[in-house]
Amino acid sequence: MSGIDDTLSLAGAQAGGGPAVHSDVAYTLVSQEAISRRVAELAREIAVCYQGREITILAVLTGSLVFLADLMRYLSMPLQVGVVSVSSYRSGATRPLDVRFTIPLTDDLTGRDVLILDDILDSGQTLTALCALLDEQAAASVRTCVLLRKDRPDLPQRMSVDFVGFDMPDEFVVGYGLDYDNRYRNLPDICVLKCHAARSAGRPGEHA
Ligand code: IMP
Ligand code: MG
Repeated sequence: MSGIDDTLSLAGAQAGGGPAVHSDVAYTLVSQEAISRRVAELAREIAVCYQGREITILAVLTGSLVFLADLMRYLSMPLQVGVVSVSSYRSGATRPLDVRFTIPLTDDLTGRDVLILDDILDSGQTLTALCALLDEQAAASVRTCVLLRKDRPDLPQRMSVDFVGFDMPDEFVVGYGLDYDNRYRNLPDICVLKCHAARSAGRPGEHA
C-alpha cells in the first residue's frame, strides 16, 4: 500500500555517524536521548510509589515492547512481567475503531500490584477496557503508565493515567515501538511521518 519506503536511508550514518533517518519521517518529536532520560526518571517515580513491593508489569503489546524493555531494566525492585495484546486499529487507520483482545489475560493477578504499561494514551479506550477487565480480578492495586499522552481536548472525560512520560500534541507518531500499519517500530526516535505531518501546523511540544 501507500508508497511507504521500506528502506532506511543511511545518509546520516554515512555522512559522519548520526543515526539513520527514515526517508518517510517528516520530523522527530521526541529524540532517543530525551526518551532515555525520561524513562529513567519514570522508573524512579515508579520505584518511589511502590517502595520495594513486588509488582506485575502488564504490558500492552505490541507498541509498549521497546518501552517495557527499557523501563524494566531501570527498575531494581522485584517484578513479574505479563503481556496482553489489544488491537484498537484497523490496518492503516490513524483513529481508533474498536478494542479487541488478541492475546487474552492469562496470569493470575490475585493480590498483585499491577502496573499496566502502554505506549500511548489517545482516546483512552484501550486502557479503559483493560482496567475494566482487571476490575474482575482480585488485584491488590492497579495503576497505569504510558510513555506518551496525546492532547485530546475533544475528550474531556478521558481516563487519567498514573505515570506519564511525555505529553504530546495530537499527532500520529511512530518509532520506539509505535507503528503505522505495523511498520516503523524500530525507529529509535518518536517521529511524525511525512504522510501525517500535514495534519498539524508546526511542531508544538518537541522534546529534544
Ligand atoms: P487509545 O485506545 O485510543 O488510547 O489508543 C491506544 C492505542 O492506539 C495505543 O496503544 C497505540 O497502539 C495506538 N495509537 C494511538 N495513537 C497512536 C499514534 O500516534 N501512533 C501509533 N499508535 C497509536
Ligand atoms: Mg497499543
